[in-house]
Amino acid sequence: MSAYKGYLIQEDGDSYIGSIKFIDIPIVQDQHVLINVEFSSLNYKDALSASGPKYGVTREYPFVPGIDAAGKILESKSPNFNVGDEVIVTGYSMGMSVFGGFGEIVHVPANWVVKLPKNMSLKESMNYGTAGLTAAASVRKIIDNGIDEKKPILVSGATGGVGSVAVNILSKLGYEVHALTGKNNEDIFLKTIGADSIVNRDDFMQDPVRPLDKALYGGAVDTVGGDILAKIISKVSPKSSISACGNVAGMQLNTSVFPFILRGVSLIGIDSAESPIEFKQSIWELLSNEWKVDLENSTRDIKLDAVDQEIKKILNGEQVGRVVIKHGE
Ligand SMILES: NC(=O)c1ccc[n+]([C@@H]2O[C@H](COP(=O)([O-])OP(=O)(O)OC[C@H]3O[C@@H](n4cnc5c(N)ncnc54)[C@H](OP(=O)(O)O)[C@@H]3O)[C@@H](O)[C@H]2O)c1
Repeated sequence: MSAYKGYLIQEDGDSYIGSIKFIDIPIVQDQHVLINVEFSSLNYKDALSASGPKYGVTREYPFVPGIDAAGKILESKSPNFNVGDEVIVTGYSMGMSVFGGFGEIVHVPANWVVKLPKNMSLKESMNYGTAGLTAAASVRKIIDNGIDEKKPILVSGATGGVGSVAVNILSKLGYEVHALTGKNNEDIFLKTIGADSIVNRDDFMQDPVRPLDKALYGGAVDTVGGDILAKIISKVSPKSSISACGNVAGMQLNTSVFPFILRGVSLIGIDSAESPIEFKQSIWELLSNEWKVDLENSTRDIKLDAVDQEIKKILNGEQVGRVVIKHGE
């Protein structure tokens, strides 16, 4: 085999179009591995990468997106990996400037790769993907930093990839979870994954953001940013923590210092793509053991030829749960 199938984004006049193409298999560099990708998954960042350079994720095209990949080592020039090892790669520059998991093969530095945990299948790892890794990192960090255990934990963008896995994990850990969503028809989904209460986004945002508001929540996992995050900051308990990972609701954060200096609230930034590989490994271990959640019912499996329509949905904020891309056949 000298070429593999991948979803290649190419410039086409004013727009960027994806299609399935055959791509030459690269020669393996020193300290790199070639992975036969069996599964990838769809994340918001992939949709931005697929949409052209103005979205700031990928600068050079033609390009194969996909910040997640799970598969078997095909060739290794690293002492740490042998042919046939089952592995996961998420983030770093894969899917941004290095061809990613929307191709059947990836060529990456060995120090971006983690071995698949014992109690996890390749498919399960991509049910989580970067969204799950980010959700677990967010939960880990707010718990470690401090939350008010007597009050509910709020999750924003709750039906999305990161949000839905965060709801799942927090519920599994025994917290009362309030799911903030813009969707009016996903109550059953949110209850099924563990939400105790559903907060409508329009209701939540009806009153203007105040410097300090009633502290209804014991902490929060925010996946959307913007004014929603500003409002969340004003509504959490003294000494509690909020994680921030996303910007689908806006990049600007207009808040006041009062929650920080009068309530000792902590805002914790999450950058899962660039986390040290040891941290990623520790989160994968958690997700395969104590924090394992079954995402099979909240994940849709697609083939490469359906990626186009799923990208449109995620850009419109319409995705519910996770989307896994299955290669082969
Ligand atoms: N920093 C990191 O390490 C990291 C890692 C992964 C993802 N992210 C970021 O996290 C965010 C979520 O990623 P994802 O993969 O979970 O995407 P996703 O599956 O599309 O989920 C995003 C969810 O946010 C809500 N939403 C969409 N548009 C919105 C808007 N205009 N205003 C308010 N809420 C809106 C929707 O949920 P509801 O309808 O339920 O409200 C949507 O399902 C993205 O910004 C992504 O770039 C960051």
